[in-house]
Amino acid sequence: MYFSSLLISALLAPLSVVAHPGHHEALSYKEITRRAGLSKRCEGAAASMNAKRWLRHQERRSLAARANTTVVITTEAPYYDVIQNDTCVLTPEVTTGPYIWPQSQTLRQDMAEDQPGVPLYLDIGVLDTNTCEPLEGVLVDLWHCNATGSYSSFEALDPNTPFAELLESLNKTIGPDLDLHTGNSTFLRGMWPTDANGMMEMKTIFPGFYVQRAIHIHAQVHTNWVVGINGTIVSDETISTGQIFFAEDLSEQIMALEPYASHTQINRTTNAVDSIYSSEDTAGFDPVMAIVPLDGEDVTKGMVGYLTLGVAA
Ligand SMILES: *[C@@H]1O[C@H](CO)[C@@H](O)[C@H](O)[C@H]1NC(C)=O
Ligand SMILES: *[C@@H]1O[C@H](CO)[C@@H](O)[C@H](O)[C@H]1NC(C)=O
Ligand SMILES: *[C@@H]1O[C@H](CO)[C@@H](O)[C@H](O)[C@H]1NC(C)=O
Ligand SMILES: *[C@@H]1O[C@H](CO)[C@@H](O)[C@H](O)[C@H]1NC(C)=O
Ligand SMILES: *[C@@H]1O[C@H](CO)[C@@H](O)[C@H](O)[C@H]1NC(C)=O
Ligand SMILES: *[C@@H]1O[C@H](CO)[C@@H](O)[C@H](O)[C@H]1NC(C)=O
Ligand SMILES: *[C@@H]1O[C@H](CO)[C@@H](O)[C@H](O)[C@H]1NC(C)=O
Repeated sequence: MYFSSLLISALLAPLSVVAHPGHHEALSYKEITRRAGLSKRCEGAAASMNAKRWLRHQERRSLAARANTTVVITTEAPYYDVIQNDTCVLTPEVTTGPYIWPQSQTLRQDMAEDQPGVPLYLDIGVLDTNTCEPLEGVLVDLWHCNATGSYSSFEALDPNTPFAELLESLNKTIGPDLDLHTGNSTFLRGMWPTDANGMMEMKTIFPGFYVQRAIHIHAQVHTNWVVGINGTIVSDETISTGQIFFAEDLSEQIMALEPYASHTQINRTTNAVDSIYSSEDTAGFDPVMAIVPLDGEDVTKGMVGYLTLGVAA
């Protein structure tokens, strides 16, 4: 089954600290309890958001059917029942990882560019955990590696070299000013604001993996932002960050396909041994995205991933 429960993710570590793979701080019992409470208290609001998503899902399916794709809509996708009514609680004090690169994040709804891989439509809803109201006009910022583990703007870095070795070879140390970028490509990076229902969509491909990390997508929510004259985004300090994971059986199935399968230089790190997954999972939440096959049957032809992010706006 690919239908795992809805993501609830939360990470700890000061925003200014760039965490390297393998680094994480355990959550206190108090923090776990607080987040569990936050994720449950907006259940009603999340359920009504999910009802709207169900309607939109129908529209998307008819769109996909009209589009000139090889995807043939065969069966009705099981949907509403699998999308859980709790939220992924994001907090400001989180790790962004070393591959954050705001300069290459652009405003768009399709960030796949020319990257090969299984199509993935991210359907993200954002709730204010204080009021349980959907947040309109907040910017959802997403980035992840390509099918063989490389990030845009960091293309010259070897995705198979353990992070400590990579830093050593570059004569760099972890710190707030760590800058490993090697270019300005933008693939698999994108941002889009939420609509009146607090929802946004992004087309991408299913991510691959790099050394020491399970398959994941980085997500941030900017609650106050404007587009600058030069096209870059200017946002305030209120930023929430998390990482989104996928069920192991789904990852296994997708990684068996090309071009993912060509990545044989390293073994894939599973969720079970990923430090950031475990810190999110320890928080009492399931940090795994809910997945529905686009055609209702076969995820390898494309899928929709659902996620409700809870932020304290
Ligand atoms: C649909 O795709 C096929 C195969 O790629 C192509 O031959 C055909 O011209 C396309 N039709 C339209 C209407 O775009
Ligand atoms: C979410 O809430 C709706 C409406 O209350 C309910 O019908 C649905 O079964 C709930 N879904 C889950 C997974 O609990
Ligand atoms: C991923 O990006 C790297 C760096 O640009 C590139 O060499 C590689 O071919 C890409 N992977 C795929 C599957 O295209
Ligand atoms: C490494 O970086 C430090 C600090 O920037 C510098 O002093 C040192 O010379 C560098 N070493 C090499 C081998 O480049
Ligand atoms: C990206 O970098 C290349 C090489 O330095 C440069 O020619 C190009 O103008 C840059 N593109 C953007 C959008 O900054
Ligand atoms: C765009 O403008 C912002 C300030 O408005 C500035 O900080 C940033 O460096 C500029 N970026 C480029 C690529 O010019
Ligand atoms: C992957 O794991 C297998 C089984 O533990 C091991 O035999 C193999 O050497 C590993 N491959 C790489 C590239 O590390």
